[in-house]
Amino acid sequence: MKVAVVGATGLVGGEMLKVLAERNFPVTELLPVASERSVGQEIEFQGQKYKVVSMDDAIAARPAVAIFSAGGSISKEQAPRFAEVGTVVIDNSSAWRMDPTKKLVVPEINAKEITPDDKIIANPNCSTIQMVVALNKLHETYKVQRIVVSTYQSVTGTGKKAVDQLMQERSGQEVTSQAYPHPIDLNVLPHIDVFEDNGYTKEEMKMVKETKKILGDDSIRVTATTVRIPVVGGHSEAVNVEFEQEFELEDVYRILRETEGVEVVDDVKNNVYPMPKDAHGRDAVLVGRLRRDETQPRTLNMWVVADNLRKGAATNAVQIAEKMLQMGLLQA
Ligand SMILES: NC(=O)c1ccc[n+]([C@@H]2O[C@H](COP(=O)([O-])OP(=O)(O)OC[C@H]3O[C@@H](n4cnc5c(N)ncnc54)[C@H](OP(=O)(O)O)[C@@H]3O)[C@@H](O)[C@H]2O)c1
Repeated sequence: MKVAVVGATGLVGGEMLKVLAERNFPVTELLPVASERSVGQEIEFQGQKYKVVSMDDAIAARPAVAIFSAGGSISKEQAPRFAEVGTVVIDNSSAWRMDPTKKLVVPEINAKEITPDDKIIANPNCSTIQMVVALNKLHETYKVQRIVVSTYQSVTGTGKKAVDQLMQERSGQEVTSQAYPHPIDLNVLPHIDVFEDNGYTKEEMKMVKETKKILGDDSIRVTATTVRIPVVGGHSEAVNVEFEQEFELEDVYRILRETEGVEVVDDVKNNVYPMPKDAHGRDAVLVGRLRRDETQPRTLNMWVVADNLRKGAATNAVQIAEKMLQMGLLQA
């Protein structure tokens, strides 16, 4: 299968190439796309060298699938051009997520919604993906009514420039890469993406809106505070979730152990709980610190950690392509 990776030289794009290779996705020809300044640069995939090509050359080659991670405005502009030549686009940016004509897919939850007419599929925001993977089966069993979530997000979520800022600050070098309006090392920024008129950030509102769309339930109330911390390896989330039905903690453990994509990491007596350093490079969503909220009924506290570049982006996108292949919606 001819596969284009748009944003191939970026953090998500690099992870995408790793995941495609690891999962033996049937790539016969790779078309790595990046900005004009990278055209001609060589990248390696499955032991072979490939030259970065321009957007126009990639479209002219009519790949079966194009996986985008080059930012929202590029997706908005270029995804329809690929779709026009028959390419299925799986898009990692926020450009199409809330478009009512586009599916927002986490394969374990709603891949069955994809139809042959869907040519642009949206991959959700990283912080939303890991939360809904952890909550989906509990929602089916007990029905989620309200979620209060606070995030502790890795700098890898902002791309290469942000990782460089952290590393330059940490090593005492001159900071030439400024991704945030403040220092990030030895600091915490309660600010991810831009502020909206209601005082929330766009990242917070993504969690609110995307959760409802993916779980297919507009009645779920979500309130979020999203925070950037000087960490690489993954995003962590403190999730407080109120259900309609009463639950037993032992049933919650059982359901989570049986949930596809989830790994329960919870043995506090031995100081075992999910941490970004353990999620790094893995596809599983790690869940731990399970406990009842003692201040109100039917409410659970949990700690959810995942590698934002893997399940939060690249792995989820490749899993969408795999599902579409199984469903006969992708032709070689
Ligand atoms: N990081 C995450 O956790 C995460 C998770 C989910 C989704 N995303 C989304 O994925 C996208 C990329 O994120 P990232 O972290 O990988 O950023 P990044 O490391 O900054 O990489 C950006 C990529 O986009 C390419 N690019 C920039 N301008 C372009 C243009 N005009 N035409 C074609 N390609 C262009 C860059 O190519 P050059 O090397 O040539 O500049 C590079 O390959 C964003 O939309 C982000 O919101 C990121």
